[in-house]
Amino acid sequence: TTPDLITDFELFEADRGEIILTSKRKDRVRALVKLKEVQNTYLSIGRFIDPQLVNQIDSIKEQSRAYKNLYEKRKQIEANFYIVFILMSLLILLISILVGLLFADNFINPITNLIKTSNKIKSGNLSVRVPQISSKDEMSLLIKTFNEMTKMLKIQKSELKKQERNAAWLDIAKRIAHEIKNPLTPIQLSAEYLKNKLKNKKDKIYANTIIKKVDVIESMVNEFSNFAKLPKPKFSIIKLNKLCYDLVLFYKKSNNKITFTTKNLNKDLYAKIDELQFSMVISNLIKNSIESITENKNVRFNGKIDLSIYLKKSNIYVKINDNGGGLPRNYQKNKILEPYVTTKKSGTGLGLAIVQKIVHEHNGKFYIDNIKNGTSALIEIPKT
Ligand SMILES: Nc1ncnc2c1ncn2[C@@H]1O[C@H](COP(=O)(O)OP(=O)(O)O)[C@@H](O)[C@H]1O
Ligand SMILES: [Mg+2]
Repeated sequence: TTPDLITDFELFEADRGEIILTSKRKDRVRALVKLKEVQNTYLSIGRFIDPQLVNQIDSIKEQSRAYKNLYEKRKQIEANFYIVFILMSLLILLISILVGLLFADNFINPITNLIKTSNKIKSGNLSVRVPQISSKDEMSLLIKTFNEMTKMLKIQKSELKKQERNAAWLDIAKRIAHEIKNPLTPIQLSAEYLKNKLKNKKDKIYANTIIKKVDVIESMVNEFSNFAKLPKPKFSIIKLNKLCYDLVLFYKKSNNKITFTTKNLNKDLYAKIDELQFSMVISNLIKNSIESITENKNVRFNGKIDLSIYLKKSNIYVKINDNGGGLPRNYQKNKILEPYVTTKKSGTGLGLAIVQKIVHEHNGKFYIDNIKNGTSALIEIPKT
C-alpha cells in the first residue's frame, strides 16, 4: 500500500518540535519527528496495526466521551428529578385536600342540619325534620333516631294538651255536677208531694213528667261526676261471663223489642277486674247500642245486639255488635272517644270516654268500628 503523503503543514508542525501522527488510514500508525542534529531532516516511522484494535480504541474513546457527557449532565438530571418530585408531591397534596374537603362537607352538613333543626325545635316548632342522608352509618342512624324523637315529642305534646283540656273540662264538670245535684232532691221530693196531693189525672201526669225529667238530669249529672272522680280500679277475680250475662239480662227486660244474643257466656271465665267499673264499661256499650237502634228508624223493630266473649293468645275479648246503623259519619273514629263528643240531644259524650279510661286502667285496649249495618265495640284485656 502506498504510504500517506506528508503534507507541508505536518512538516511545519514537526519544525516546532512536535511528534506528529501522520496516517489517516485505520490500519496503521505513523509518526513524524524533526531530527535536531541534522539540518532539514525528518524521521518518519510507521507500523501496521489490527484495524479492529483501532476500532475498539475509537469505540472506547466514544464511550468515554459519552460517559463524560453524562457525568456533566448528572446535576441537571438530578435537578430535573427533584422538580418532578416536588411537583408530584404538590399534586398529591392538592388532591388530598380536595378529597378531604369533600368528605368534610359530607360529614359537616348533617351536623349543621342537626344543629339548625335542634334550634327550631327549641323555639317550639316540632314539625321540622332533619333531612336524611343516603349513607347507612352512625350519622344516618342518629338522624333517624333524632327525627323519631321529635315525632314522639310532638305526639306527647299534643297528648298533654288534650289531657290539660280534659282536666279543665273535668274540673268544670265536677263543679257544675255539684251545683246541679244540690237542688235536685228538693225538686224531686216536692214533685212527689204534689203528685200525691193532686186529684186530677192530667195534673198527676204533669207532676210525673217533672219527676221523670229530674231523674234524667240526675243520671246525667251522675255520669259527669262518675267520670270526674273515676278512682283507680280495685282488682279482684271475677266471673266475667256472669257479669256480662247479668247485664244483658237487665237490659233485655227494659228493651223487649230488641233481640239480644250471647256467645260463650255459659262457660266460666275468670278475669282480674274491678267489678263495678267493668260493669260500667259493658253497660255504657250496651246503652250506646240500644240508643243507636232506638234512634235508627230503619231498624227500630228489628234491633239486634250480640255480646260475645272469647280468648285469644294471652288476651280476653268482649265484643258487642249491633245493627244500629254504625258510627256517625262526620266524626273521626277517635274523636267520638273524647269526652263531651255526642250526637245525641241529651247525651253527655262521656260514655265511650269512660269505657276507654277504664279499659286502659285494666291494661287493655278498646276498639270501636263500623260493621255491616252497625257498630262493633271490642274490649281487649290481658288474661291473668
Ligand atoms: N253503638 C253505636 N252505634 C252508633 N253510634 C255510636 C255507638 N256508640 C257510640 N256512638 C256514637 O258515639 C257518640 C259518643 O258516644 P258516648 O261517648 O257514649 O256519648 P253519648 O252516648 O252520651 O252520646 C254517640 O253520640 C254516638 O254518635
Ligand atoms: Mg253513651
